[in-house]
Amino acid sequence: MTKEVLDGLLSDLQEFFKNDYSGHDYNHTMRVYKLAYNIAIQEHANLEIVSLAALLHDVDDVKLTQSINYQNARLLMNKYGIDKVQEEVIAIIQDVSFNGNQSKSPSTLEGKIVQDADRLDAIGAIGIARAFTFGGNHNRPLYNDENPVLNMDEASYRQHKSSTINHFYEKLLLLKDMMNTDTAKELAYQRHQFMKNYLEEFYDEIEGKK
Ligand code: ADP
Ligand code: NI
Repeated sequence: MTKEVLDGLLSDLQEFFKNDYSGHDYNHTMRVYKLAYNIAIQEHANLEIVSLAALLHDVDDVKLTQSINYQNARLLMNKYGIDKVQEEVIAIIQDVSFNGNQSKSPSTLEGKIVQDADRLDAIGAIGIARAFTFGGNHNRPLYNDENPVLNMDEASYRQHKSSTINHFYEKLLLLKDMMNTDTAKELAYQRHQFMKNYLEEFYDEIEGKK
């Protein structure tokens, strides 16, 4: 991908996401792109495919558009004459955007990397910020009356379903074990530890211990 194409795509994406507050904004796309690019270098993957799939991974998200058959991603690639790798990029977007926690594991290294980067952006310092932003937008309390504890069993955390802290137990703390590549596993481990430390601090402050 030439610098002209990249610059053009970035400005198109900025325009595309300008009204979105669902957590799939331009900054999320840029973080996923940068992470995926760095992982791709470590994993010796195809940088053009990883870059394009990361940049375009959310432009056909059902939460944002009613597009059919990944038409937004196709339109953007056509605009810049990206032809040869187009189907491979679309296949990755399809796997990565597959809905739910149990989403598909992409078959190519490039797809695995983009999925890892998208998941990494839900954990660590950024992940914490995104979770509380989501909770605020949905009028959720920070936490419930009973203090949640680490490694809560399933029955207990169901009682906390309506709080943002619950989201850590239903999703964020599970993501580190869902990484595909070794590079992402290492990054996820660091982010996971940071979140666990954050939660311990959080509970101590709830109790007025600190
Ligand atoms: P994706 O489509 O990337 O899986 P989602 O739309 O489910 O992401 O979530 C976008 C962001 O909002 C993520 O950072 C996610 O952790 C956060 N989020 C989703 N559901 C909740 C929730 N119930 N409570 C707090 N944060 C949430
Ligand atoms: Ni995403």
